[in-house]
Amino acid sequence: MKAEKIRKSIEKFGNDREHLMLILRDLENASGKNVLDIETLESVAAEMNIPEGAVAGFVDFYTMFKTKPRAKYVIRVCKSGPCHVMGSTTIFDAVQKHLGIGIGETTRDGMFYLEKCECLGVCSVAPAMMVNYDIHGNLTPKRIKDLLDSYKKKKPSAGEQCGKEVEGKACIINEPRQTKRLLDKIGVVDPLKIDSYLGNGGLDSLKKALSMSPADIISEVKDSGLRGRGGAGFPAGMKWSFVTKGPMQKYVICNADEGEPGTFKDRILMEENPQLLIEGMAICGYAIDASIGYIYIRGEYRRSIERLQAAIEQARKKGILGKNIMGSKFSFDVFIKEGGGAYVCGEETSLINSMEGKRGYPRFKPPFPGGAGYMRLPSNVNNVETLMSVPMIIEKGAEWYRSAGPTNCSGTKLYCLSGKLNRTGLVELPMGATLKEIIDLHGKGIKKGKKFKFAHVGGSAGGILGKDLMNLPLDIDQPIKQGVTLGSGVVLVCDEDTCAVDYLLQILSFFEHESCGQCVPCRVGTVQLHHLVKKFAMRTANESDIDLLIEKATLMKKASLCALGQSPIMPITTMLKYFRSEFVKHCKPDYKCAACDTSLKRYYSGSHLH
Ligand code: FES
Repeated sequence: MKAEKIRKSIEKFGNDREHLMLILRDLENASGKNVLDIETLESVAAEMNIPEGAVAGFVDFYTMFKTKPRAKYVIRVCKSGPCHVMGSTTIFDAVQKHLGIGIGETTRDGMFYLEKCECLGVCSVAPAMMVNYDIHGNLTPKRIKDLLDSYKKKKPSAGEQCGKEVEGKACIINEPRQTKRLLDKIGVVDPLKIDSYLGNGGLDSLKKALSMSPADIISEVKDSGLRGRGGAGFPAGMKWSFVTKGPMQKYVICNADEGEPGTFKDRILMEENPQLLIEGMAICGYAIDASIGYIYIRGEYRRSIERLQAAIEQARKKGILGKNIMGSKFSFDVFIKEGGGAYVCGEETSLINSMEGKRGYPRFKPPFPGGAGYMRLPSNVNNVETLMSVPMIIEKGAEWYRSAGPTNCSGTKLYCLSGKLNRTGLVELPMGATLKEIIDLHGKGIKKGKKFKFAHVGGSAGGILGKDLMNLPLDIDQPIKQGVTLGSGVVLVCDEDTCAVDYLLQILSFFEHESCGQCVPCRVGTVQLHHLVKKFAMRTANESDIDLLIEKATLMKKASLCALGQSPIMPITTMLKYFRSEFVKHCKPDYKCAACDTSLKRYYSGSHLH
């Protein structure tokens, strides 16, 4: 790449290491072949005064970057849980057949390169794929030819070419029996126009908050019982109160790195009501005395990035962000940071490292981000759904907020429905909805009249729920007693045709792919777990491998540094609780399993990407 282009890119984003992600993405887009070659990386390192090894290590860490020339268009076909269950292998087949290339290969004319990828955040319209930054859902093998041929005629775009089926509004379940609080303005407010937000009661909460004391705001959030909606369920008000006080700079960080397979709620919230997120962050900033907010969004979410950027600019013009916002003494601004395709960056300290232009390795805790977060300064990290719940709490009060949901897990929850249901998408219900209500009423039952086999709740890091737990309240506390977690609100439903071994194989390949490799138990353990389940899929395992699987996952839970390595135990033990006999059957060399055979052929033969 020309030195001039590299210098211009650095000038555009800034010379500090924290801008490395944006600079490299800009250069990769400009390459025409979706590549960051070694010479480019060396020049970036020299210009920015960063060690060459650090730049190379950064690029190697994030799956969206490659140092090998790819093609004008990179096709990423999703293979995560919901897409796998909905037939992603048939999409791989169709793409490979139409283009005559395998995974990790480029067509002769240099137009297309095929990759497998993990969740793209459009799971209700699985199977899905991404072509550069355009996302396509509801794919069928039949659609592939026309879809790919259309790329031969047009210019590459920076995104926003998502088909109608992946638009946020289209992904919300149209069922009146919901308690819509976060979703009530979606479809009413125009996400591209701030005046539409203002005309629908937007900013009333921020105005009210600015007339309150920061301590009263924190008390109100504490009283509301709002708990983090990203997965851990930590009380939000308490987290805010832990942010170190004093004259130093503090930060509000919004975790919008929604990478848990099966989750797409934060994407829809950001795309359809971006101003509400800005308002929630400003209230948090005022409460913890932070004047800067960052939204860390996964790099695949181009539409979220574009809409939020537009919303931020409009808010600045209206004096809602910037110096002395809305005529008050409080100054606050929001900036976007982008991810590069690393699931582990959903963990708050990994996310902070990534924001600083480093590999997204989790940090040892303590210190917690509230004391030493971004740039080692006090930072409060909450996810999108959590921060967007704050304005309603301030406007309507803690008591009103507690009027939905159980005492310990108040409010509503966004549940992401995917898999073999007649109706998939997003629903908002009082925290603690049951699987029965979700499947029968909101999902309209199982597709094609098939029988329910299991639901995977909470995403890859969550657990398996069988028929016996149909009436379990899916709140933050109850599932844990059954060895399951609600996590980010994923409800992936699988029917009788799903093979338990094939499904677990897919989950464990995900963990192997996403382990950051920093701590040995996780780096080695995820490879071994994947290998062990692969033995069942290949019908070469012994029954004793079942115990070995549990033993290794237990050890990882005890010894791993972050939640990623601590998580595989949950899907493994809960799957085995219900389907141990299926694993035993797979120990017989002559046992027939078409699902395992197909997965082994599609995903695990030929070139590997990582
Ligand atoms: Fe494929 Fe989420 S988009 S699993």
